[in-house]
Amino acid sequence: MSRLGIFGTSGHAREVRDIALAVGHDVTFVARDRTSVNSATQDESVILEEDVEQLGNAVFATGIGDNALREAVASHFKVRLRFTNLVHPSATLGDGQEARIGRSTGIVIAAGARISNNVALGDFSVIGANAVVSHDCVIGEFAMVAPSATILGNVRAGARCWIGAGATIVQGSSDAPRRIGAGAVVGAGAVVTEDCEPGGVYVGVPAKRIK
Ligand SMILES: CC(C)(COP(=O)(O)OP(=O)(O)OC[C@H]1O[C@@H](n2cnc3c(N)ncnc32)[C@H](O)[C@@H]1OP(=O)(O)O)[C@@H](O)C(=O)NCCC(=O)NCCS
Repeated sequence: MSRLGIFGTSGHAREVRDIALAVGHDVTFVARDRTSVNSATQDESVILEEDVEQLGNAVFATGIGDNALREAVASHFKVRLRFTNLVHPSATLGDGQEARIGRSTGIVIAAGARISNNVALGDFSVIGANAVVSHDCVIGEFAMVAPSATILGNVRAGARCWIGAGATIVQGSSDAPRRIGAGAVVGAGAVVTEDCEPGGVYVGVPAKRIK
């Protein structure tokens, strides 16, 4: 399969590499600068952003967990590089989801995740290992659904929101979807039973706004 450049050199980038290797890509990390080439990636194939054109006709993915930084890098490079989706072979997709995901760009879906039915995933969203996104959900662009989070049906998660590890978003309905505002943060292990305001930080069971 083709060469894939992964922007980032962090632990998240190495997890994204695992997905890329599982689908047969040859991987090169794309580091922002020399100082970000850390001990975990120093023995790997790494080039600097300024030299990214050397990868010729490679495809690209982001290995950047921070939503804002991922958006900045993707927005800067997507005009001249070809980003692809990465779906781990052990992730499972409901009927029609493969085609729906294929209409988006830069999505990363990790091992064991489940994307159910009639789900829309925004460009450059990340679905972590063993996370579940249930029927009729919309996950905004540049959003992060961390490992083992569970998003039940009819949830509208806004752009750049962050759903922490193991959190549960209780379902909405087709008439009244549960809304997670753009840029909202849901803490690890929270259970969200009401809508979350844009930019708010919510923790606990049931989740309450703390910031
Ligand atoms: C919610 C979160 C973003 C808050 O981070 P923060 O803004 O730095 O907040 P603080 O650490 O200052 O904590 C503020 C308060 O909330 C509490 N708190 C923080 N996270 C909490 C959580 N997940 N559940 C319950 N309480 C939590 C703290 O104990 C603290 O309480 P206090 O004021 O009584 O001492 C963070 O704790 C979190 O859960 N991040 C998600 C991590 C994750 O899932 N990572 C996945 C990586 S892929």
